[in-house]
Amino acid sequence: MKTKKVLLTGGAGYIGSHTAVALIEKGFEPVIVDDLRNSHSFVISNIEAIVGRKVIFHQVDCCNEQEMRAVFEEHQSFEGLIHFAAYKAVGESVDHPTMYYKNNIQSLVLILDLMKEFKVDNFIFSSSCTVYGIPDHIPVTEATPMKEASSPYGYTKQVGERICTDWSNSSNSKITLLRYFNPVGAHESALLGELPIGKPQNLVPFIMQSAIGKLGALTVYGNDYDTRDGSCIRDYIHVVDLAEAHVSALEKSINDGDQKVVLNLGTGRGATVLELINAFKERTGQQLEYSIGDRRSGDVPAIYADCSFGESYINWKARYSMEDALEHAWKWENYIKENHSN
Ligand code: NAD
Ligand code: WQD
Repeated sequence: MKTKKVLLTGGAGYIGSHTAVALIEKGFEPVIVDDLRNSHSFVISNIEAIVGRKVIFHQVDCCNEQEMRAVFEEHQSFEGLIHFAAYKAVGESVDHPTMYYKNNIQSLVLILDLMKEFKVDNFIFSSSCTVYGIPDHIPVTEATPMKEASSPYGYTKQVGERICTDWSNSSNSKITLLRYFNPVGAHESALLGELPIGKPQNLVPFIMQSAIGKLGALTVYGNDYDTRDGSCIRDYIHVVDLAEAHVSALEKSINDGDQKVVLNLGTGRGATVLELINAFKERTGQQLEYSIGDRRSGDVPAIYADCSFGESYINWKARYSMEDALEHAWKWENYIKENHSN
């Protein structure tokens, strides 16, 4: 039987590594392309440990045309391509905008050109709820208008969606634009998870590193928002649920999907920062020191997803709770401490 190869750029990263496992579990053969600029080779070994066999991996920069062309030539052909490779830190993008435009846009354009040349259909793009900015109404649906991007990173996702759309119109190839809400958690095996470089800016990695003693107390950025306890509301989705949604979206695209689809990927439930902190303490039994600080500039007060369209379109629903995600992230933090801290 012909293997169903799927090119996975950024497949050694946080969401990509979980998606590689989910693809294999559904009978696909992921071909991972990642230059490990934000990952480590042990992630590839750990994917192999979970699935019990070798995986195909190319340590290649997605902006390098010659090396990317060689990957397409070697594997012709792919059933689809899931493009995770990008920079993703909002604050860093403000300080280094051209680095973000170069990596996030250049890699996308090159890959779309190669897909056209090698006649690969079915493109899945990692977009973000950041494209909605501060929405007028919550929950947000896929029809909620985009607001002006508050960071160069956010702009790369808005422009990225437009580039995909123009490419699809010109090539008649299918695109699925996935707008992730807040991915959290780790693989249940504790062999895969998020590996923030430097001091984490995101809430859950900060909590984990604080609880394990790598960092000091957490600062909650504001408790004077117009929410049920004054702290910001987000939609935290388990990374394994997110990974499985990619496989469902790809299958739908391959089988009978529309030419262009936009899907929110969240849980449909919003949690406040203080609720998440309490959930972590209750589920893991760990202490966590925190203080209330000022609001963080640029933070959206409250956002969560209306996922009803996506859930029915790709026949998928998040199955893990936020508590599960926090427990798994904690197991992963301990695994890293025991095995990969230096
Ligand atoms: P990540 O940094 O863990 O993974 C990205 C991977 O891409 C890394 O392994 C990195 O080494 C690789 N990479 C980056 N540029 C590359 C290049 N030019 N060539 C080859 N490899 C390259 O990030 P993630 O959290 O897994 O995010 C994946 C995608 O999802 C990104 O596009 C990100 O913008 C998007 N996204 C992430 C979140 C989030 O909170 N994690 C939310 C919304 C959208
Ligand atoms: C969550 C909540 C903070 C840290 C970012 C990107 C977004 C998307 C997901 C990629 C907020 C609060 C945080 C801390 C805190 N990524 N917080 N103390 O800002 O919702 O989204 O990641 O596309 O584009 O902007 O996620 O985890 O940083 O913050 O109180 O030390 O936690 O104020 O309310 P955010 P986050």
